Amino acid sequence: MKKVLVTGGTGYIGSHTVVDLLENSYEVIIIDNLSRSKREVIEGIEKTTGKLPRFYSADLCDRTALEEVFQKEGTIDGIVHFAAYKYVDESVKEPLLYYRNNVEGLINLLELVKKYQVKNFVFSSSCSVYGNIETLPVSESTKLNPAESPYASTKVIGEMMLEDVKLEIPANFISLRYFNPVGAHTAGFIGENPSVVPNNLVPRITGTAIGKFEKLMIFGNQLPTRDGSCIRDYIHVMDVAKAHTAALKYLSELSSLHTHEIINIGSGKGVTVLELIAAFEKVTGIQLKKEFASPREGDVIAVYSDTTKSSKLLNWTVEKSIEEMMQTAWNWEEANNT
Ligand code: UD1
Repeated sequence: MKKVLVTGGTGYIGSHTVVDLLENSYEVIIIDNLSRSKREVIEGIEKTTGKLPRFYSADLCDRTALEEVFQKEGTIDGIVHFAAYKYVDESVKEPLLYYRNNVEGLINLLELVKKYQVKNFVFSSSCSVYGNIETLPVSESTKLNPAESPYASTKVIGEMMLEDVKLEIPANFISLRYFNPVGAHTAGFIGENPSVVPNNLVPRITGTAIGKFEKLMIFGNQLPTRDGSCIRDYIHVMDVAKAHTAALKYLSELSSLHTHEIINIGSGKGVTVLELIAAFEKVTGIQLKKEFASPREGDVIAVYSDTTKSSKLLNWTVEKSIEEMMQTAWNWEEANNT
């Protein structure tokens, strides 16, 4: 496999994956409408790798513009599809925006996968498809509970669409269910750069440390966990990026067609909010101003991944520690927001 199209390649996980693909000698083409990311990310990718991916500013909901890319590029060996909205709160307020963007974008792309005979497809899914979970760790065979938000519903629908189209389209598909990607590339030229005020924990930690937020709110300190705060499976974004390269390799080595694998991408370790904050304070030497608050509506208490399938099928496992996640997230915040 040589030429890979990355939709949403200037986004957070997308840009880190582009870097890993370029470093593994893939020819990378990016499509992004830059609605939630910045054009400078492409410079960051070039500074990191010394390579410049081809870039098309196009919206996946614009079927004509999307098809022009396929016509210009000729044979595309694989697609990694990130382009989608990802804010849970926003999706609750504007569900149609999420269904239009995330579902229509995927439909257009899959129609072109069929028409231009692309053989390998990796879909960005999320552990949010599991809904509220009672049994831990979560494995791919865990029954899905109702989605907690329209964002999560769009990921459930995406996976269902792949389940259906795999029967028709002679290609192979993988859905990667990410747990909590955090951190930034160690070189410091790319990282998480949300265009709206972030409400995820790590950008709130680094943002509080740099003075963008007055204090860090800790949602829940009396929950039934080892220290009373929520448990999540944090994973360095470069480890997540590498899972995509491994997924493309796995797909390219398949001898059959019409398959769809669903794979968890997590570390397998549950870390509490308080443990993550302590790791940040230790590696940076900064004491955060923090306050306990009630649990956040819709939050699950604890979730972490069973990693059996990812290590077996993709021969992939996480390499980076919680300390590296915190250090690189902080380096990125300092470099970009002082
Ligand atoms: C959330 C989404 C998930 C989505 C992911 C995308 C929900 C319920 N889940 O994951 O579907 O894929 O974002 O990035 O929204 N916390 C604090 N203080 C803060 C912020 C967060 O204590 O200021 C806590 C939360 O309560 C949670 C943990 O930190 O226990 C992680 O939160 P977050 O980073 O927002 O991720 P998720 O909620 O796990």
